[in-house]
Amino acid sequence: MRRAVTPQDAGKDHWQKVYGTRAETEVSWYQPRPARSLELIAAYAPDRATPAIDIGAGASTLAQHLLDAGYGDVTVVDISETAIARTRARIGDRKGAHYIVADMTAWMPDRRWGIWHDRAAFHFLTDTQHQDAYIAALTEATEPGSVLIIATFALDGLEKCSGLPVRRYSPETLAARLGPAFDLVEASREDHPTPSGLVQRFAWTVLRRR
Ligand SMILES: C[S@@+](CC[C@H](N)C(=O)[O-])C[C@H]1O[C@@H](n2cnc3c(N)ncnc32)[C@H](O)[C@@H]1O
Repeated sequence: MRRAVTPQDAGKDHWQKVYGTRAETEVSWYQPRPARSLELIAAYAPDRATPAIDIGAGASTLAQHLLDAGYGDVTVVDISETAIARTRARIGDRKGAHYIVADMTAWMPDRRWGIWHDRAAFHFLTDTQHQDAYIAALTEATEPGSVLIIATFALDGLEKCSGLPVRRYSPETLAARLGPAFDLVEASREDHPTPSGLVQRFAWTVLRRR
């Protein structure tokens, strides 16, 4: 039984404002091509029939790239309906594209995915209750063999993203937080150059569900 948690209303307002006022090329996490995500997904899901979900997708072009690469079942989820509307306007009602507006700390998934991708969303959950709710959704939305590809700010990374505090992780501390149902299978780092010239240090963690 899932425990009800207080939804992140302040978070939703923040993200609605971000996507309502700034072009995607202006935000610090912008990347013209999500290269690391695409490489890891291709490596761990060579079968293009594998359903993939991008958590906290924002206005990222990842889903579009996956559809272009032949993935046939791609879902994006974000707390901001403005972000999802932007992505939908770009991709359109293309076969295999699915759009969900949801707060990950209150979401009840009704299906499962083979690839769970999250770049810079989980790290905004700074309290245990919201992290637990995310992990409950993750557990309901995956099955044994599903692969998680999660990027957070690294332990020596910035303490804030988009003006909000974040929880920083190494692949090992992230694996420990997600729990024994997920095995750590690959770890790497990435220095992401932001459009304003700063560097965001990311830890990339790949885990497989037991
Ligand atoms: C730093 S942005 C990263 C966007 C995208 N993943 C990328 O790499 O371009 C973080 C995203 O997480 C979303 N987000 C934050 N908290 C969330 C929550 N509780 N549930 C769902 N999405 C959330 C935000 O709306 C935002 O789009």
